[in-house]
Amino acid sequence: MIHMTADPNPAQTSPQPAPGRPLVEITNVDKHFGEFHALKDITLTVHHGEVVVVIGPSGSGKSTLCRTINRLETIDNGTITIDGKVLPEEGAQLAQLRSDVGMVFQSFNLFAHKTILENVTLGPIKVRKLGKADADALAMDLLTRVGVEHQAQKFPAQLSGGQQQRVAIARALAMKPKVMLFDEPTSALDPEMINEVLDVMVELAQDGMTMVVVTHEMGFARKAANRVAFMADGEIVEVAEPETFFTAPRSERAKDFLSKILTH
Ligand SMILES: Nc1ncnc2c1ncn2[C@@H]1O[C@H](COP(=O)(O)OP(=O)(O)O)[C@@H](O)[C@H]1O
Ligand SMILES: [Mg+2]
Repeated sequence: MIHMTADPNPAQTSPQPAPGRPLVEITNVDKHFGEFHALKDITLTVHHGEVVVVIGPSGSGKSTLCRTINRLETIDNGTITIDGKVLPEEGAQLAQLRSDVGMVFQSFNLFAHKTILENVTLGPIKVRKLGKADADALAMDLLTRVGVEHQAQKFPAQLSGGQQQRVAIARALAMKPKVMLFDEPTSALDPEMINEVLDVMVELAQDGMTMVVVTHEMGFARKAANRVAFMADGEIVEVAEPETFFTAPRSERAKDFLSKILTH
């Protein structure tokens, strides 16, 4: 499936691939934890500018899949390429490729003893070698984009969960990643804060960011996803456009899963 979208990172110095080209290519990936087969022959391509929502029961391997994409977990078999480059085992090249992948987790993981502004400027200064003034300007732009610019001088504990998660998104964006991974970014939030985070993510998608999003928020999937990948027992069971997946799932496992989450 090819999606024509605008260049999501015009400020980036490295040339961007043509729209619609594969950006993340996961090919025949296996992952074991001891005897336990956590990822079974996973093959999935995420194209430049595409949003893929990953959905499935707890324990099906969604977080493990996200973690393999930026090498927080090693893989046993198969390959993962980011923008045509195979993820290496370790070393400086790994650090470089990893910084192409932004990640937002369920818990916000902000540095408690640093201000909101410092949380966002830390990566650009340390890894991207930006000067402080440039890093501050970039951070303020991003904090404005996610709607928390007035909190810049506060500490994380002074912000609501929804605000902290928006800061976590700004912090990931500050590294100018080529792809953003979200692992259940709203599942630790109070219900009234979920939409303010999803709205930021929808805008990001509309701006052309390539995204892999683990979430059960069907409203988000319908609004922003190009495809839904359904996982169960370590496998990708089916991949479909959101409307097709939610209204006419093909597999019994997807039907069963949807009947459980839809009855509430
Ligand atoms: N570090 C680990 N060591 C052992 N088992 C793990 C580890 N991480 C995940 N698992 C197991 O792998 C399976 C998939 O986990 P996970 O990817 O977190 O699922 P999901 O995110 O879909 O809920 C689960 O059975 C989990 O217990
Ligand atoms: Mg998980």
